[in-house]
Amino acid sequence: MKRVLVSGGAGFLGSHLCDRLLKEGNEVLCVDNFFTGRRSNIHHLLDHKNFELLRHDVTHPLFVEVDEIYNLACPASPIHYQFDPVQTTKTSVIGAMNMLGLAKRLKIKILQASTSEVYGDPEIHPQPESYRGNVNTLGIRACYDEGKRCAETLFFDYHRQHGVPIKVMRIFNTYGPRMHPNDGRVVSNFIVQALKGEDITIYGDGMQTRSFCYVDDNIQGMYSLMNSRDGFTGPVNIGNPGEFTMLELANEIIELTNSKSKLVFLPLPQDDPMQRKPVIDLAKKELNWEPTIKLRDGLTKTIEYFEGVI
Ligand SMILES: NC(=O)c1ccc[n+]([C@@H]2O[C@H](COP(=O)([O-])OP(=O)(O)OC[C@H]3O[C@@H](n4cnc5c(N)ncnc54)[C@H](O)[C@@H]3O)[C@@H](O)[C@H]2O)c1
Repeated sequence: MKRVLVSGGAGFLGSHLCDRLLKEGNEVLCVDNFFTGRRSNIHHLLDHKNFELLRHDVTHPLFVEVDEIYNLACPASPIHYQFDPVQTTKTSVIGAMNMLGLAKRLKIKILQASTSEVYGDPEIHPQPESYRGNVNTLGIRACYDEGKRCAETLFFDYHRQHGVPIKVMRIFNTYGPRMHPNDGRVVSNFIVQALKGEDITIYGDGMQTRSFCYVDDNIQGMYSLMNSRDGFTGPVNIGNPGEFTMLELANEIIELTNSKSKLVFLPLPQDDPMQRKPVIDLAKKELNWEPTIKLRDGLTKTIEYFEGVI
């Protein structure tokens, strides 16, 4: 039995990862400062004999004994990461240093939840891992994008300089149950608006595209990466290459919820990328991974969850 630390374990992805790790027979130490994470996400685990919760901010050093680390701590939605941009960069950079320091001391493997945001507003489409990105260092998304880019640099330097075994995962838009209802991410936004019968807010003309990965597929990719062959570091894209415009997504959600909501169009926020789509050849080759859950099926499960929450 391994003892696994999940930073950001009370968040959307972190809580699903805790479920999976416990199911695999591990002990889980969930570390979270509850900035965007919620007790309700892990409520069902609090009495589990192999689950332990620690309220802690990863920008402060942590001394615990564990066998593996998944570093997920960081607000992921623009509304939340732009709320306190300095703290966002601190969480990404100082948080990564603290978790890497722990991995170095314990001589253990550590996985970083990086992001497709490291590609910024990409000039090539779709995006392979070799693409170096197009990020506006001065923009309002930079606290997150540059924080995550610097965290990747730290991971590779700890690996080269100190021999820490690392796994770096670049996560593309992921959705599913336990997303925060008010975090402004497009899938949760549209579903909540559709269920409440409110206008569905589309930024720009709605022709910008995104690819959406259901959470179970994401967690399978994350787990496979952590358990991939020694020496495979990534970075590896984990996302669903199926591409949809915001208009298509909105119409699909309206249909699935039988909503009477209308579409309204608002100006595009600064630095909003026009398109994002992962090349997943590396994940297929190294992890034998590809997404299996269709958008319609994933949306149906997510809508069921939000119906219970609202
Ligand atoms: N969901 C996605 O589509 C997506 C896409 C790309 C990358 N990611 C990355 O995956 C990770 C998890 O994302 P999520 O969607 O679950 O977001 P989330 O906001 O639901 O979860 C993040 C968790 O980290 C915690 N946290 C934030 N700052 C912290 C700090 N300083 N100390 C301790 N805990 C802290 C939050 O309370 C929360 O529980 C993040 O690192 C994010 O950047 C997610």
